This record gives sequence, C-alpha cells and structure tokens, in this order.
Amino acid sequence: MKLFEKKLRSTDPCWCQSGRSYESCHEAFDRKCAAMKAQGYLIPPRSLIKNQNQIEKIKASAAINVAVLDAVAETIQVGMSTADLDQIVAQKTNELGGICAPFHYEGFPKSVCTSLNDQVCHGIPSPNVILQEGDIINVDVSTILDGYYSDSSRMFCLGTVSSQRQKLVEVTKEAIQIGLDQVVPFTPIGNVGHAIHQYALQHGYSVVAEVGGHGVGLEFHEEPFVSFVSHKNTGMLMVPGMMFTIEPMINAGKPAVYLDRNNGWTIYTQDGSDSAQWEVQVLVTETGYEIIAW
Ligand code: MF3
Ligand code: CO
Repeated sequence: MKLFEKKLRSTDPCWCQSGRSYESCHEAFDRKCAAMKAQGYLIPPRSLIKNQNQIEKIKASAAINVAVLDAVAETIQVGMSTADLDQIVAQKTNELGGICAPFHYEGFPKSVCTSLNDQVCHGIPSPNVILQEGDIINVDVSTILDGYYSDSSRMFCLGTVSSQRQKLVEVTKEAIQIGLDQVVPFTPIGNVGHAIHQYALQHGYSVVAEVGGHGVGLEFHEEPFVSFVSHKNTGMLMVPGMMFTIEPMINAGKPAVYLDRNNGWTIYTQDGSDSAQWEVQVLVTETGYEIIAW
C-alpha cells in the first residue's frame, strides 16, 4: 500500500487505469469514500477496485469456470470416483484454454475441491472415494485465464437423497440469494453474512465460522475475508468495482469443524453432520450486483 496517494487533478488520468479522466471516472467516488470514512466506515483499498478492462478479463475466466461446472453437472453419477471428477475438470479447463487454480496452490495436490457429505470444504479428489446413491457433494471449481481468476461451486445430489439432505442443499442455495440481496453499494459487507447466518438459524442449521469467502479476480484470494457469521453494519464497505465470493458452509448440526491433519486440507464437521456449500462470484455495481460466476 502506498502511504501517500498523489492528489489527482480532475483532468489527470484516473488511478484505476481506465484511461479516462479522473473527473469522468472515480473523482465523485473518492469524494463519497472520504465522506464515509469520516463517518467511521472501513473503505476498501484501491487495489480491490476492478476497472472495465479487468472485469472483462475476469468474465472470460468465469465463462470457463461455469462451462466446467456445466460439464460436471452433465456427467456426474453414482459409481464415479472423485478422481474422475478431477479428470473432467482438468480436461475441460484445458480444452477451453484455462488453468485450474487449485492445482499446486499452496501445495493442494489436485485440480478441484470435491467435498462429500460431512466434508465442509477442500475435499481432495481420490480414486478411492466412490460416489454413492444418496450422497451430496460440493464441486468447487476455480480457473485462471490470462492471469485472471474465477471461483464458484455447486452442490450435486447423487440419485435419490434423503429429504433432510435435499432440504440442506436447497436452503443453502437459497442462502446465496439472501446474501446477494445484501450486496448494495456503499453498505458494509458484514450485512451479507449476517443475513445468511440468520437464514440458516431459522432453518435449524448452523454456519461455519472458520472459513469464508474472499475477494477474487486479480488474485485467487484477495481481501476482504467474507464471514458468514458476521454482524450487521460491520466490515469493509462494498463499493462498485469490488469483486468477492459468497460461499457459506452450512451444517445440518453444530457449527464446529476440524481439519484433517493427514492431508492438511480437508475440513469436516466435528459432529459428523452433513454440510452444504454453494459459491457465487459477485461484482458490486453502481446499482447493486452482477453475478460473474456460479
Ligand atoms: N475454491 C476454494 C475457495 O473457495 C479454493 C480453496 S484453495 C484450494 O477459496 F487449493 F483448495 F483449491
Ligand atoms: Co472461494
């Protein structure tokens, strides 16, 4: 972070590198941010604000991410292993010219996260994990294209699943929309997690606190950390040009989780209850939000 931002004149090029003049681009935005900062709000650093050119590049990456998840949706079935899913993701991503972001990310050994039943997140694909009738699984796909990142995930139900599992998957998907409804420019991001948490509690579920969403686009994981057990009117302001994920992990039982020390990645519910997650990549716009990947 630069300690001193050069004070721009109205006719100077804007700091966002749009190529437009400061006055026709972010001058009014900066004035609004300064006023809100004076009121005590947490203002995002400029490094988190994407310009139109960057947004287009991220959207191209996201188009691959969505196509890969569509390919998974078409082929996933009982009897497949999670390593088969990894193979489908790697193959489709490469075919479309992308790179799987998880592969060797901080030592992650595979191209996608596959989290089954009581696995909360970061399940590692394996030839020994065979999808069974009645399973629920989260497939979390992340793509790099031309250096730009996309990240989204979906739940899949294998064959006929119990009504309890079906409801958990549905409520968790509904929670995404509850969160999206809170994405209003110049309001604090804590509102997103607060609304999602309340929604989960209303259905008798709990929300994992230890893991959450994140800024995304220019890097895989950017600021801010997006909590889904946050409080109203807390956290960074959501401003136009910011991009982040909404990806709550909702447990049928208690919220406590543990990390599998053998692989250093996979997180499970402590009580063995089922956990579901959907992940959407969202852009804050002048009037609300735009879904970039799901
Ligand atoms: N897609 C996951 C997320 O939502 C990625 C976790 S890092 C990985 O942040 F290496 F496990 F892929
Ligand atoms: Co993510």
